[in-house]
Formats: sequence, structure tokens, C-alpha cells
Amino acid sequence: MTEWGGAVQSSKVDISIAGAKAGRWPAGYHYRMRIVITGGGGFLGSRLARRLLERGTLTDARGSEREIREIVLLDVAHPAAAIDDARLVCRVGDLADAATVDEAFAGGVDSVFHLAAVVSGQAEADFDIGMRINLDATRLLLERCRRLEAPPKLVFASSLAVFGGPLPDPVPDDAPLMPQASYGTQKAIGELLVYDMTRKGYIDGRSLRLPTVTVRPGKPNRAASSFASGIVREPLAGIDAECPVAPTTRMWVTSPRSVVDNIVIGHEAPAFAFAHTRSVNVPGLCVAVGEMVEALRAVAGDRVAARVHWRHDAAIDRIVSTWPANFAPQLGPALGMRGDAGFEDIVRAYIAEDMPRS
Ligand SMILES: NC(=O)c1ccc[n+]([C@@H]2O[C@H](COP(=O)([O-])OP(=O)(O)OC[C@H]3O[C@@H](n4cnc5c(N)ncnc54)[C@H](O)[C@@H]3O)[C@@H](O)[C@H]2O)c1
Repeated sequence: MTEWGGAVQSSKVDISIAGAKAGRWPAGYHYRMRIVITGGGGFLGSRLARRLLERGTLTDARGSEREIREIVLLDVAHPAAAIDDARLVCRVGDLADAATVDEAFAGGVDSVFHLAAVVSGQAEADFDIGMRINLDATRLLLERCRRLEAPPKLVFASSLAVFGGPLPDPVPDDAPLMPQASYGTQKAIGELLVYDMTRKGYIDGRSLRLPTVTVRPGKPNRAASSFASGIVREPLAGIDAECPVAPTTRMWVTSPRSVVDNIVIGHEAPAFAFAHTRSVNVPGLCVAVGEMVEALRAVAGDRVAARVHWRHDAAIDRIVSTWPANFAPQLGPALGMRGDAGFEDIVRAYIAEDMPRS
């Protein structure tokens, strides 16, 4: 059972679910839940889908625990690994296209996990794509949620990239948003929209500022933080890896398992557990990149760690160095969220759970 230790009821702004007060809930709300995961074909989206299927239930916006009837994975791509479960539906399409979203929403939706995005490096390299997917499509999705019969719960995958500039160390929950690149700006705007549409009673939204997730299996992607996985994954596979930032660069990181746990906790938290905000700094681990390589050495030995080569990349360093690396989250832990114990554990978990077996 979760304890809402630090959770307080709103005193400043009443963002309780106005739809419930207004009696906009349909009769028969106890029906089984239908869930949409945007970006459901991606790294976190497909893991989240598996986790929800294992759980079998979720708590709806009224606080009732309900069985999951269907999970729709809405993505431009199918999940890399097939998930065999009759409750799962894959809809391949562009989230920026209203007809695609309408199709995914046909039949009603109780909860949305909004994970679709173009990642930081791509959003910076191509301003128009970043705006179209990370901002315009987010607004389209929120507007579609607004037209549902009852306000759905919505979890928005935001990022620590909403922060930047001079900040206290560690960063408190109420630090100002000052993104230093387009991706963080698009996430920050998304958070404000989630907050305001929650305040209006159109959705029951929660924006979770995720740490950098490592170790990500598979191939490098266009995230500026992609190296944080590459410097572990590639050496373990016998491949040399380049690290584009200095060993002293610190990062706020989390394992895939912890972040999926925390996304589910963010969904399950009752509306009253959020006070004057709907944005949560998700717990993580503050670690220097050099310490990550030392953790790899401790777990896998010198030969493996020697495959990491330090090669500075100014473009990546410019983005990563603006992200704060050390947080003092309060709301997240009060909701029940947890970070990882140490980077060695993260490396071991990757080897045990995700590393391809030859
Ligand atoms: N992984 C991390 O380190 C991290 C850190 C902070 C925040 N986040 C956020 O978490 C979310 C999930 O991240 P991830 O690591 O799983 O990324 P990912 O790239 O693996 O998944 C994102 C998915 O969105 C899909 N997508 C992109 N454009 C789309 C469109 N127009 N229509 C439909 N689908 C589209 C992609 O095909 C992809 O499958 C993202 O919003 C990301 O910004 C991730």
C-alpha cells in the first residue's frame, strides 16, 4: 500500500478534477480500462506496455482500480520486439495527424501515457520537426483528450532538460524552468499545457521530468545523452565507444526498470497528492561520466573499460553541460518514486536483463 507521506492537499490552486464535480462521468465508469501509449513502439513505451500488461489493472481518474481491457501503442514504428498479448493493439501512424489520433481514441480512452517525441539531438538539429512532434502533436493530443466523455488521466514524459542556467546544487523541486535548447523548451511548454488543462478539468495530468535513462539496449539514437548508454553497452559487446564529454561531467541518470516503476507511480498517484504543480522531478542518481566507466570496470574488468575512448564533441557537450545533474526531489519520493542505489547496480541490471546473449 502506498503512503502519501509528503503529499498535501492543494491550498493555493484547486486542480481537483472539475469533470468529476460537474458530473461529466459516464454511467458505467467501472468498465475495463482502455489505455493509449503514444511512442508505444519506442524504448520506454514498449517497456511500459509490458509492465502494464503484467499489472493487469490501473487506477482511473476517479480513484477506482480497474482491469485493463486494451492498450493501444500509437507510434510511427512498431515495437522492436513483438509483444504477444490479446489486450495489445499497435496503431502505426503520425501523432501529428488528427485522423490518426481520432482512430486511436475511437472506443474511448481512460488513460494516456504520452511518450512520443523526437529526442534532444534531433529536435536541436531540426527545429521544425521538434516543434511539430514535441509541441504541435502534444497540443493536438491534449485537445483530443478534452473531447473525451470524461477527463482521462494523462502522464506526460517530460525531461530534466526543462532546466538550465544558474541553479542551486542540488536543484530543488521549485527551480525555475529555463531550458537551453529546443527540446527542453518544447517539453516545458508541454508541461504548462498539461497543468493548465488539468486546472480546467479537461484532463487529470501529470508531467514527469525523467532523468537520462541508461543503459538503453540496441543502437545509439539521436539523443544528446545517447553516449551515457553507449559507454556501457558497446564495451560489453566488445565494441569501442567514444565519450563526447569530459569524465568530470555529471549526469542525473536512472535505470530503465526504475523509470518505468516511477512512470506507473506517477499515474497511480491520486490527484490530491499534487499540490500547486503537476510536474514532478523524478528521482535519479547523480554520477560523473568517469564514475560510470569506473563502475563498468568494477563489474566487467579493465579490458572492457579500456574500450571507452574520450573524444570531445562540442555540439553534444554544449547541450549536455546545460542540464543540471543533481536534484533534491521531494514530491517524487513523497509519491513513492525511487532512484537507483548506484551505477554498478545499473550496469549489472543491464547485463542480467537486457544484454544480448551471443
Ligand atoms: N530515454 C531517456 O533518457 C529520456 C529522458 C528524458 C525524457 N525522455 C522522454 O521519454 C519519452 C520516451 O523516450 P524513449 O527513450 O522511449 O524514446 P524513443 O525514441 O525510444 O521513443 C519515442 C517514440 O516516439 C515515436 N514517435 C516519434 N515521432 C512520432 C510521431 N510523429 N507519431 C508517433 N510516434 C512518434 C518514435 O517512433 C519512438 O518510438 C520521450 O518523450 C522522451 O523525450 C526520455
